[in-house]
Amino acid sequence: MHKIYVAMVGLPARGKSTLARRLREGLAAEGIKAEIFNNGDVRRTLLGTESTDPDFYNSENAFGREAREMICRRNLELAGDWLNKGGEVAILDATNASQARRAMLEQTISGWPVLFVECVNEDSLLLDACIRRKAGLPEYANFTRDAALENFLTRIAYYEAIYRPLEREKFWIRVDSTANRVIDERPCEDSPYYPLIREILVGFWIKSLFLVRHGQTEFNAWGRIGGDPMLTAKGREQARSMAYNLENEDIDWLFTSTSLRSHETAAPLLAKKSGMRTMALKEFDELWAGDCEGMRYSEIREKMPEVTAGRNADKYRYAYPNGESYAMLRNRVQCGLRRALFLAGGAPLVIVGHQAVNRVLITLFLRCRNEDVPYIYIPQNQYYHISLTSHRKIFERISYSSCMSLQNKISSSHVCRC
Ligand code: F6P
Repeated sequence: MHKIYVAMVGLPARGKSTLARRLREGLAAEGIKAEIFNNGDVRRTLLGTESTDPDFYNSENAFGREAREMICRRNLELAGDWLNKGGEVAILDATNASQARRAMLEQTISGWPVLFVECVNEDSLLLDACIRRKAGLPEYANFTRDAALENFLTRIAYYEAIYRPLEREKFWIRVDSTANRVIDERPCEDSPYYPLIREILVGFWIKSLFLVRHGQTEFNAWGRIGGDPMLTAKGREQARSMAYNLENEDIDWLFTSTSLRSHETAAPLLAKKSGMRTMALKEFDELWAGDCEGMRYSEIREKMPEVTAGRNADKYRYAYPNGESYAMLRNRVQCGLRRALFLAGGAPLVIVGHQAVNRVLITLFLRCRNEDVPYIYIPQNQYYHISLTSHRKIFERISYSSCMSLQNKISSSHVCRC
């Protein structure tokens, strides 16, 4: 019977555990028994806070070195026992940063292949966010924020000193964990699990993404473009309806652009779901209209006919004077989506975007001809719900039930929460 060990590789805070969880879920969805064996869990159980001291990770520290070796072997034993009892894919979640450690794994494991999965994350914004998140884990409960951060950065520096990328190992795959991309690989072609593991590692993996456009603004009401306008009364009502419709959804993260209208739209949902984490990403700012920012379409037609003509001829590629085209927007929106998905780590998320931004976001999931992108309908009283995993592909547009109609449906003794 085929079985396999998957050993994660990478410096701390590079997305290894997120990918390990995604692998377990993706394999389970296909009926394959996969389990994660985390060196850190064994370490915390055996050594507790003793192993929080950064010097524990110094390769010059004999006690730390031997303890970490012992923990790795113990974890391997647990994984081996589990495979012997009917498990199919044992995922070893650890840094496995040095070649010596990986050689030890290859020599110790017999009977089944070991596939190394190296996670690379070179996006400084994401790296910083991950490091800060890790420094807030229970392991650092007795530290101040700054002391925890310093401690964790010292630990990373010790790992950097011994870290070598995959190269000599028999089977491996190196992925950019922020971009769903294989950088290089030495495939384990004989394993029936390899194609699925590869697909899970680099495919879109989104449990639930709610894509919302901000509510109506003063500029929308006047046919003006760009700027940083506030919502109208109607826009605020749309924002409350959005919150009402999404408040019972299981959502962990909310991303906005840096514009007021995006923040104002998000506010009612944030007020209802205070546990949600939130971040404004400039990558989700609306298409920049350059010299035409703040103008009405009719005014542009009159005063700058060449702009209207250029857009009519090729709206996807035409860039406003000193501004952007949809083709340019696509690059930064794609970067924003990568960041949002990485930070959410597979958990459900909302993005409160804009007309052009949401058009581009949609086409990152749905195939569409470039020339059609700038004409996709993006209403302000509906949201898109997207779910893409290896066994579930959902793409739907849902109308908000307005607060008023919902209020009418509930008994008069209840108070509308809008
Ligand atoms: O009109 C609202 C708006 O978000 C503008 O700020 C932006 O320039 C425009 O939509 C993008 O849509 P289109 O490319 O169709 O003009």
